[in-house]
Amino acid sequence: MLDNIRLSTDETAVVIIDQTKLPGKTEYLRLTTAAQMREAIITLQVRGAPAIGIFAAYALYVLARSIPKKADFFGTLKELKNYLNGTRPTAVNLSYALERMLSVAKKAGSNREKVLRALGEECKRIQNEDIAVCRSIAEYALTLLKDDRGILTYCNAGPLATSRYGTALGGIFLGFERGYKFSVYCCETRPLMQGARLTAYELAEEGVNTTLICDNMASRVMSEGKIHACFVGCDRVAANGDTANKIGTSMVAVLAKHYKIPFYVFCPTSTLDMKCKSGRDIVIETRSDEEVHTGYFRERLAPRDVKIYNPAFDVTPANLITAIVTENGICRPPYEDSLKAISR
Ligand code: MRU
Repeated sequence: MLDNIRLSTDETAVVIIDQTKLPGKTEYLRLTTAAQMREAIITLQVRGAPAIGIFAAYALYVLARSIPKKADFFGTLKELKNYLNGTRPTAVNLSYALERMLSVAKKAGSNREKVLRALGEECKRIQNEDIAVCRSIAEYALTLLKDDRGILTYCNAGPLATSRYGTALGGIFLGFERGYKFSVYCCETRPLMQGARLTAYELAEEGVNTTLICDNMASRVMSEGKIHACFVGCDRVAANGDTANKIGTSMVAVLAKHYKIPFYVFCPTSTLDMKCKSGRDIVIETRSDEEVHTGYFRERLAPRDVKIYNPAFDVTPANLITAIVTENGICRPPYEDSLKAISR
């Protein structure tokens, strides 16, 4: 598996795999400036809720190290935090990780070296925690699966979207290691094709039996009896269990309900937003027209002047979700109670 986010050895840069180039090219980017880091999140060079949190934590550390000695350290740190946080609104992991960094810095006192040490430790801790959390989610996921099962997944919630294992894909990888024979159907995930480019790539690289389908084929494969469970990741879970994930996820959940297929959501507890009462309070990112017009097509497909609407996420209502699987256990409805019981 690829090391998708890391700190450079001299701790002056964050090194990432440019996810926009996968699977054709494995290109590493060495990011040193706030503008490059912000751009990396916005353009999805780094993407996936946990991954952007981890990345932003490293980014803030690297940037903190370069705050001039004469500058107002905490004032600048806060500005940098807001600058990075203003990139993508839906995934709560971004603000969660940045808040953690800021609070550690404040607690470390006023000695600059001490604060930097604390920040350096915290970003590494955030990444190491993610690895352990994904491993635990994977173990819980496996309790939901039997051998020879067909699983449908949407977007990418694999190692590239976290730092190892992934959330929705973690159980699939772990089961595969233990000899389970799963058949995984990946939806392409229009318009940015995270399913086709990243999920299909991650699964096929490891040797998992993988089939790529267009998003509008999900109903067909479900009706053919090929799917026994849907596994998806998420960007923010409200206190009532409503869940935001990549645009199109709720469409899969509606279909799963129709075909009586369990629909599972996987996430670290850092993706739970207990302050957010329901899906109505989740801010949905809207992205550029270009992604729909041109995106991964060789040339513009639709008429130049056609109106585009490009919401990047949607909310799956809690009543369509069979269970929400976290590192602390499997939550089932009513989610108001089960999520409260396991949240940090
Ligand atoms: O726009 P993206 O590619 O960042 O969207 C990612 C998703 O929707 C993932 O399913 C989600 O972040 C979970 S990643 C473990």
